[in-house]
Amino acid sequence: KNIVILISGRGSNMEAVVRACQEQRWPARIAAVISNRADASGLGFAAAQGIPTAVVANKDYASRAEFDAALQTVIDGYAPDLVVLAGFMRILTPPFVEHYAGRMLNIHPSLLPLFPGLDTHGQALRAGVAEHGATVHFVTAELDHGPMVAQAAVPVMPDDTVDTLSARVLKQEHVIYPQAVRWFVEDRLTIVQGAVQVDHSK
Ligand code: GRF
Repeated sequence: KNIVILISGRGSNMEAVVRACQEQRWPARIAAVISNRADASGLGFAAAQGIPTAVVANKDYASRAEFDAALQTVIDGYAPDLVVLAGFMRILTPPFVEHYAGRMLNIHPSLLPLFPGLDTHGQALRAGVAEHGATVHFVTAELDHGPMVAQAAVPVMPDDTVDTLSARVLKQEHVIYPQAVRWFVEDRLTIVQGAVQVDHSK
């Protein structure tokens, strides 16, 4: 299977997926890593791995629709079976999301449905929750919704800051995102009435 990964910055989740794909010999290859920012530091790691990289800069487009159309053309040039959003900080238009329905995953740093949107760690600290975490989900038109594939929870400590809490969550992201992508490329995931079922019998 061909996987295309979209990033906007550091790309540590992309790196976790790339490494797991290599080390666990998935029936898949990372066909490309694409960023909407030329300065995304994750592009360096991908290039060093010999993975094709591309930049489609949103600032070069007058509207979201034009940007998404250009991005879709570049992505589809790599014939992806799966598109993996890994810290891709753009809201996507409904036609784009529809085009990749059932074959686009995202990771969101909260226990959805809690804390969609930005500053999830700050939201969690302000809400005073005892537990926080991350969610891998299929992407649907509604931001940070869509059928959930995997979640990981971590405790919130009394002295946590956004930095300490986000670091604890990120560690878990690097576990559950490769796991979820692996399930997809091994054809273990089905969406039944809006909920994901994982086939553990394989
Ligand atoms: C991660 O916390 C991810 O959940 C969120 O943005 C962050 C990206 O980190 N959407 P990285 O670029 O994968 O290192």
